[in-house]
Amino acid sequence: MKILIIGLGYAGNRYRRAFEHIAASTGLPLALAYVGRRQKPTELPYFDNVGRALQAFAPDIVVVSVNDHSHAPVLQQLAGYRGFVICEKPLVTPRDDLAELFGALEHVSGFALDLVERYSDASRQLREWVERHDWQLVRASFHWGKDRINDYRPTCGVTSEVIHALDLLGWICPRAGQLRLHGVLGVRSDFSISGNEVLDTVQLTASLGEARVTGYASFVNIVRQRTVDFSFVDRDARLINARLVFDTPLWDHDQLRIWTRDANGAEDVQHAFATAPDEPGLDTLHKLSRLCLQVVRAVALKEPPRQPFAGLDTAVALQRLLNDLDTHAQTPPPARYLHGETRVLLAEDSDLESLG
Ligand SMILES: NC(=O)c1ccc[n+]([C@@H]2O[C@H](COP(=O)([O-])OP(=O)(O)OC[C@H]3O[C@@H](n4cnc5c(N)ncnc54)[C@H](OP(=O)(O)O)[C@@H]3O)[C@@H](O)[C@H]2O)c1
Repeated sequence: MKILIIGLGYAGNRYRRAFEHIAASTGLPLALAYVGRRQKPTELPYFDNVGRALQAFAPDIVVVSVNDHSHAPVLQQLAGYRGFVICEKPLVTPRDDLAELFGALEHVSGFALDLVERYSDASRQLREWVERHDWQLVRASFHWGKDRINDYRPTCGVTSEVIHALDLLGWICPRAGQLRLHGVLGVRSDFSISGNEVLDTVQLTASLGEARVTGYASFVNIVRQRTVDFSFVDRDARLINARLVFDTPLWDHDQLRIWTRDANGAEDVQHAFATAPDEPGLDTLHKLSRLCLQVVRAVALKEPPRQPFAGLDTAVALQRLLNDLDTHAQTPPPARYLHGETRVLLAEDSDLESLG
């Protein structure tokens, strides 16, 4: 099976490592190649052009892991492609035309947006508890941030980060309904090399069916901080709390806690789960490699995925929400991080934990 990675940067190399691990651990023959604007110091076959790579390499799977601003032009270049596409989140940027994408991707055999937190055991367990007990969501809130100040990688801004939390709400509560935005405040700044007024933070209210949602997401959160809290009611009108914590203290280290309070206010813990996976070779890649393995098996063995992929419809629905956030965020004058003459960027070879 042939896999073409378009954009072999931080994310692209994570895919390379994940697929190499899958090939080694399953014995499935996987051949990799990449497309880039420049050749990288790697042995992998290189193409300087998407069209030429599709023709000469004839990949079964294409991974789109170019920077946010290049997603739309690269996806357009896949027009007519008939294999499987894995696309890094977000699908495109708020400035791109969504209608054109449907045309370009109409012949693909499958599509998965990389919403990697869906592949956490903690998310999976909460989703199963909600379904099994028929809990009704009343209220959710999230805090989702990381430090991308002076990162060397371009970005379209915090829409690229808030997408994880927004997706998890609907993923864990699929029966709650559509997510609708009510209001959004934000801050723009020069935190990134991508501009002087990039949206770095949003604070929002929304509804998921009858449930109300509040959320905070930021690319200038000076520590990685990823929690999603839920309040449900059960069939007996009892209030149930659940908290998901992701990537703390290390990437892929996730936790779930579900509890109620008795009449005296004491906590009654229904379920507590913590995972700290440490399979050799999968450092920071445990969740991503599950997505990759399910795609490989779906393509090679025509096996249905263990959980549905985030398909094009989901990707587009999320993108419309992100576009609304970007358009409607009420923002004060931009904040300024750059006070000296030059920007000191995080080094490209920084460790995976600080980049992630
Ligand atoms: N799911 C997650 O948790 C997660 C984590 C990190 C990143 N991401 C996403 O992954 C994507 C890439 O981010 P990154 O952190 O990997 O950035 P990065 O390290 O800057 O890598 C991007 C790569 O894409 C290449 N590229 C850009 N435009 C291209 C084009 N038109 N054609 C071919 N190659 C092109 C760049 O090449 P040059 O060397 O020529 O610039 C670079 O090698 C972003 O959309 C980001 O949001 C997702």
